[in-house]
Amino acid sequence: MYIHTPFEENRSYLDTLTKLFNLSALDVNEAEFQLVYDELGLQLFKKDEPKLGAIRVDFVTGAVAHRRKFGGGKGQAIAKAVGLNKGAVPTVLDATAGLGRDAFVLASMGCKVVLHERNSVVAALLYDGLQRAYQDPEIGEWVQSSMRLEFGSSHDLLAQAQWRPDVVYLDPMFPHREKSAQVKKEMRVFQDLVGNDQDADTLLPFALQLASKRVVVKRPDYAGFLNDKTPSMQIKTKKNRFDVYVNAAMK
Ligand SMILES: C[S@@+](CC[C@H](N)C(=O)[O-])C[C@H]1O[C@@H](n2cnc3c(N)ncnc32)[C@H](O)[C@@H]1O
Repeated sequence: MYIHTPFEENRSYLDTLTKLFNLSALDVNEAEFQLVYDELGLQLFKKDEPKLGAIRVDFVTGAVAHRRKFGGGKGQAIAKAVGLNKGAVPTVLDATAGLGRDAFVLASMGCKVVLHERNSVVAALLYDGLQRAYQDPEIGEWVQSSMRLEFGSSHDLLAQAQWRPDVVYLDPMFPHREKSAQVKKEMRVFQDLVGNDQDADTLLPFALQLASKRVVVKRPDYAGFLNDKTPSMQIKTKKNRFDVYVNAAMK
C-alpha cells in the first residue's frame, strides 16, 4: 500500500491510521493500491486501474446519506430482517462491517451498532468516514452515540465478547455478478483488496451462540445458505436476501 497526502499537515493523521490499523506502507512503485488523504478524506485507488475510481466512506453526502432520508425506513428489507418492524430497536453487532453502509442504515433507524472489520485498509477507510460523520453538525451526535468500530477478526472478537447483542449481522464477501457499472467498478477494487471471505461459514456458530434474539445473514440471491444451515425465515429483495436465524422472539 502506498500511503500518501498532498498536504503536509495531514501527515500525522496518516501516521496515526498506519499505526492503528497496521497498514503496511510500500514504496509507490511496489504498491498495487494507494491510499490518498486529501480534502475529501481517505480514498483508496487501484494503481494500475485509475479508471475504476476511488473508494471512500461518506456517510454525510454519499448514497447512504440519500438512503437515510429517502430509503423507506422500517419498511426496508434490512429493517424487517433485524426486527425493527416489530417495534423493537435491537442492539446490533455487525461482524463483517466493510464500508459500514448496512450498519449506517440500521443506526439511522435507532439501533446501537458495534462494527467489526478485520481488513486493515477497509477498517482505516471506515474509521476515517466515521470521524468525518462524527464531526458533522447534522448527523454527528447520533452517529457518535450509535456507531463504534472495533478493528479485528470476528472469529476472535465474537468469542471474546463481553456483551450479548440482540442481533448479530453477517454480510461476508461473495463472488459478485453485479451488472450496474458503478457498483461493478467499486466491487472490483473491493474484491481485489479483500478477496472472498472463505472462512465465513465458521462465523455462523459463533454468531448464533452470541446473539440473544437473532442472526441475520445477507446473501446474494444466487448464493447458498451460510454454513449450509437453513434459516428460520427469509426476506428477499431484488438481488439479495436476508436469511434470519431466530434464537428468541424480538419482544
Ligand atoms: C461484503 S463486505 C460487508 C459490506 C457491509 N455490509 C456494508 O454494508 O458496507 C464484507 C466485509 O467483512 C469483512 N470480514 C469478513 N470476515 C470477517 C471477520 N471474520 N471479521 C471481521 N471482518 C470480516 C471483510 O474484510 C469485508 O470488508
